Amino acid sequence: MNEEQRLAGQAISKTSAKGKTDKDYSQYFQTVYSPPSLKDAKKRGKEEVNYHDDFKIDPAFAEMGKGRKFYIRTYGCQMNEHDTEVMAGIFLQLGYEPTDSTADADVILLNTCAIRENAENKVFGEIGHLKPLKLERPDLLIGVCGCMSQEESVVNKILKTHQHIDMIFGTHNIHRLPNILNEAYMSKEMVVEVWSKEGDVIENLPKVRKGAIKGWVNIMYGCDKFCTYCIVPYTRGKERSRRPEEIIQEVRHLASQGYKEITLLGQNVNAYGKDFTDMTYGLGQLMDELRKIDIPRIRFTTSHPRDFDDHLIEVLAKQGNLVEHIHLPVQHGSSEILKLMARKYTREHFLTLVDKIRAAIPNAVLTTDIIVGFPNETEEQFKETLSLYNEVGFETAFTYIYSPREGTPAAKMEDNVPMDVKKDRLQRLNMLVNDMSAAALKKLEGQIVEVLVEGESKKNPHVLAGYTRTSKLVNFVAPKEVIGKLVLVKITDAKTWSLNGEMIEIVETAEVNV
Ligand code: 5AD
Ligand code: SF4
Repeated sequence: MNEEQRLAGQAISKTSAKGKTDKDYSQYFQTVYSPPSLKDAKKRGKEEVNYHDDFKIDPAFAEMGKGRKFYIRTYGCQMNEHDTEVMAGIFLQLGYEPTDSTADADVILLNTCAIRENAENKVFGEIGHLKPLKLERPDLLIGVCGCMSQEESVVNKILKTHQHIDMIFGTHNIHRLPNILNEAYMSKEMVVEVWSKEGDVIENLPKVRKGAIKGWVNIMYGCDKFCTYCIVPYTRGKERSRRPEEIIQEVRHLASQGYKEITLLGQNVNAYGKDFTDMTYGLGQLMDELRKIDIPRIRFTTSHPRDFDDHLIEVLAKQGNLVEHIHLPVQHGSSEILKLMARKYTREHFLTLVDKIRAAIPNAVLTTDIIVGFPNETEEQFKETLSLYNEVGFETAFTYIYSPREGTPAAKMEDNVPMDVKKDRLQRLNMLVNDMSAAALKKLEGQIVEVLVEGESKKNPHVLAGYTRTSKLVNFVAPKEVIGKLVLVKITDAKTWSLNGEMIEIVETAEVNV
C-alpha cells in the first residue's frame, strides 16, 4: 500500500456531499464515519505513529494563491492558535496574502474549538454570518477546521444545514491544506477530509508566527488521559511526541531570531516522551537541554498532575530560563469527583505534589483550571474545591461550568446539578479566585520584577505593558524602544488583575544556566 492509499483508507470522507438528501448522508456516513468511541480510542498504542520530516508544497500548487487573500479566525486554546500559524505559513508558501477582513478574503477558515458547548455555538453563529458573503461572492471559499471538525455530529450538521461551507478538515489534516484547497477549487462542492486515525507527527511545516517576542513550540500532540468530561483525546488523537532534536533545533532557531520567550505546547506535556520506543526520555530531560539555550524564558502548558515527576521538579528547580510559574490544572477538590472525572489522582496526591514543588522551588507560582457543577457534585464537594484552592494558594485560575460533550463518558452520567446551582458555585469560586489574585499582586507592591515588554497597553497607548516570569501583567511608562526587551520595573500599585510600576533599567543579557 502506498502512502496515498494508506491515508485515503483512514479518511472519514474525501468527496463531495452537497445536494444529497438526509437519507443519502446517513448511508454515506454509516460506511465511512465512526463517531468518537471510548472503547476504540482506548485500544490506542497498537497503531504506529508515522513521522514525516519532509513537508513540501507540491510545485503544481505553487501559483494557487496568486492574487488571492486568506483570513483565519481562531477559537480556543494556544494549540489552535499555533495551528493557525502553521496554516498561515502554508498559505504564504502557496502565494496567498494575509488579510484581516472577511470582506476582502478569497478564503476564510474558521479554526474551531470543541471543549465546551458555548465555544461550538459561537462557531455556528459565525458560520451563519458568513452565508451572505458566500451568496454575494460564490468564488469565496469557506472552510471549517480544528477540533469541531473531528466530531461526527458537527460534520453532519454542516453537511445538512450549512451548505455554503466549502471545506471541512480535521486537526490531523492541516498539512493537507494545499490538496484540500485544490480540490475545493476543482470540484466546487463540499470537500470533507477528516481522519479518524490517531495522527502522525509532521515536521518541516512552515509557520507565520503572530509576534516576534514570544513563540509557541509544539512538543507533543494528542492526549491519552481520557478524563471523562473531555473531548480532546477524540479530537486531537493519541499522545505522540516530537523528537527532542527537532524541538531543540526549533527553540534554538527562535532564540537566534531574537525571540525572548518560548511556550512549549501539548495537551498533556508531562506525558512527553512516553511514546518513544527507542529511549527513555521525558519532559525533565527535554527541559534540562532547553535551559542551556540562550533564550530568557521557557514555560510549558498544560500539565497533568498525574505525570508530573520528581525529575521534572528537580530540573525546574534549576530555574535560570525555566520560569517559576507552573499551570497545574486540578479540576476539582474532592477525591470522589476526581474519581468520577477519571483524573487518576486524589486530593491528597495533589497536595503532596504541591508540597514537593514548593519544597524544591520555594518561589513557584501555581495557577490552575477548575470545573464546577460536574454530575453528582454536592455542596460539600464543591466546598472541597474552595478549600483546596485556599490550601494550595493558587494565584489565579480558569474556571468553568461543566459542559457535557457528546461521546464522552460523563455525557452519559445524569447531569443532576441544576444550572442555577452551577452558576452560583461558579460565582462563589470566582470571588475566591479574584481575592487570591488581588492578594498575590498586592504582595508585589514595592518589589522589583523582571518584565518582558510586549507593546503598548490595550487601554492607553502612552503606557507599555508586559508580563513577569510568573505571568503577571505590568503597566508602566517608558520609551517605545524597550518593546521586546526585558526590563526591571518597581511595582508601585497593585490592581485586581494587573500591576502598575516604574521602569528602573533594561536587563542587558539573559541569565542562562549552563
Ligand atoms: N466542560 C467544562 N470544562 C471543560 N474543560 C475541558 N472539558 C470541559 C468540559 N466538558 C476545561 C478543563 C480543562 C480546560 C482546558 O477546559 O478545566 O483543563
Ligand atoms: Fe482533556 Fe486535559 Fe484530561 Fe487530556 S488531560 S483528557 S486534554 S482535561
